[in-house]
Amino acid sequence: MTLRYSLLILAVGAWLAAMHISCTGESKQEKTPALPEDDIAKLAALPTEVPVPADNPSTPEKVALGRLLFFDPILSGHKDVACATCHHPEFGFAESLEVSIGVNGRGTGSNRDFSTLGDIPFVKRNSQTILNAAFNGLTLTGSTDASNAPMFWDIRAKGLENQSLEPIKSFEEMRGHRYVKEAALDSVVNRLKKIAEYRHLFQEAFSTSDAINSQNLSRAIAAYERTLVGGNSRFDQYMRGDRSALSINEIDGMQVFLKSGCAKCHNGPMLSDYKVHALGVPDNEKLTQSDAGVDNQYKFRTPSLRNLRFTAPYMHSGKLKTLEQVLEFYEDLAGDKIRNPLVGKPQIDPIIELLKVDFKDISLIVEFLNTLNDDQFDRTIPKRVPSGLPVGGNLN
Ligand code: HEC
Ligand code: HEC
Repeated sequence: MTLRYSLLILAVGAWLAAMHISCTGESKQEKTPALPEDDIAKLAALPTEVPVPADNPSTPEKVALGRLLFFDPILSGHKDVACATCHHPEFGFAESLEVSIGVNGRGTGSNRDFSTLGDIPFVKRNSQTILNAAFNGLTLTGSTDASNAPMFWDIRAKGLENQSLEPIKSFEEMRGHRYVKEAALDSVVNRLKKIAEYRHLFQEAFSTSDAINSQNLSRAIAAYERTLVGGNSRFDQYMRGDRSALSINEIDGMQVFLKSGCAKCHNGPMLSDYKVHALGVPDNEKLTQSDAGVDNQYKFRTPSLRNLRFTAPYMHSGKLKTLEQVLEFYEDLAGDKIRNPLVGKPQIDPIIELLKVDFKDISLIVEFLNTLNDDQFDRTIPKRVPSGLPVGGNLN
């Protein structure tokens, strides 16, 4: 069965489940009429299969190599930052800082800070989670080609493979002062070639000798990332037909979410349309310059609403600490109060005109959003990495 049809069946199944609830006639449920077909059909469970690009089939060898690379700070200029530094399993492959600290940082969680005063700035945005990033681009009608999947808050990279090389080249994330941007990938590849264990592991994963190059580096990391999924939240169980998976309050919350207009942008199995919208989210004061997003129009990509437990603090700038604060932000926005003084009313996405957020509904919507968490994901951290450097970077 194709992905498109499985998704449709899931969506229709859930709609039938919702209809059924409304027909049982119990007094509590009468307050929860069936969700209109076009509304509930905007949402769907995640499929069980992750989209994979034709030129990078996953194998256990590739995934195991990708995991080692992901946790190995050998990929960073000063050998102090790994991908896992900002995307650690302990924090749901995201992190709890407003904006990330890469090169010259130390510590984890809210204790992470710069180790010495230097010229390395904060990374300009809040770290996204890698959980389910393999599904980016998936809509109700199926998936875009996995090698073209939208990545980053501003969609400046396409596909996990291409995305994975960007942090290695970025000054404040991983590169630092050791080499210039143009030399970053060659420098890292040369380092890997000097480590016998990597020579062996690349050969096993790609079945050729001399397999260490930036393309295979990106392929191994992406193959590992495709294993980082959480698609069995209580929301997914409900959408697949298990009516007992959500409480009455949570179903009410879903309905209010739909009625408020949230699903005009947060829809499909990832609760994202993958489009960019200007909402006037406040800038982070730690940056020296305002972050004006796509085309300098303050547009950012609609994030998934899955696993919000791990993606706090929220928004591209990490400026909203809790889901209640996000909902209060939308309540203000629907009432024409724009939080970012550099963004004018004409710039705000016109869809916001259709948004209606009532203060009294906030806690119900938050109850619904909490059903989208799934913490049954792979948290395996390698005991050591082939470079012998500290696993995950400078985390102490
Ligand atoms: C210093 C912290 C830091 C490091 C190190 C880092 N990232 Fe990220 N990552 C971020 C931030 C911040 C974003 C969002 C950036 C943006 O959108 O402009 C992000 C975004 C991503 C995304 C996009 C997710 C989505 O839904 O669009 C992926 C995938 C990702 N990182 C993978 C990696 C990989 C692989 C590595 C290692 C090669 C890595 N990251 C290293 C901080 C980091
Ligand atoms: C016009 C499209 C649109 C509508 C309507 C909309 N959102 Fe969003 N949402 C976005 C975009 C875009 C962002 C990221 C904005 C940014 O960072 O600048 C976002 C961010 C979020 C986040 C932060 C997620 C994270 O991990 O940081 C949450 C939570 C959220 N929205 C929930 C909602 C809820 C609940 C509603 C309904 C009350 C709603 N949204 C309505 C587009 C929309």
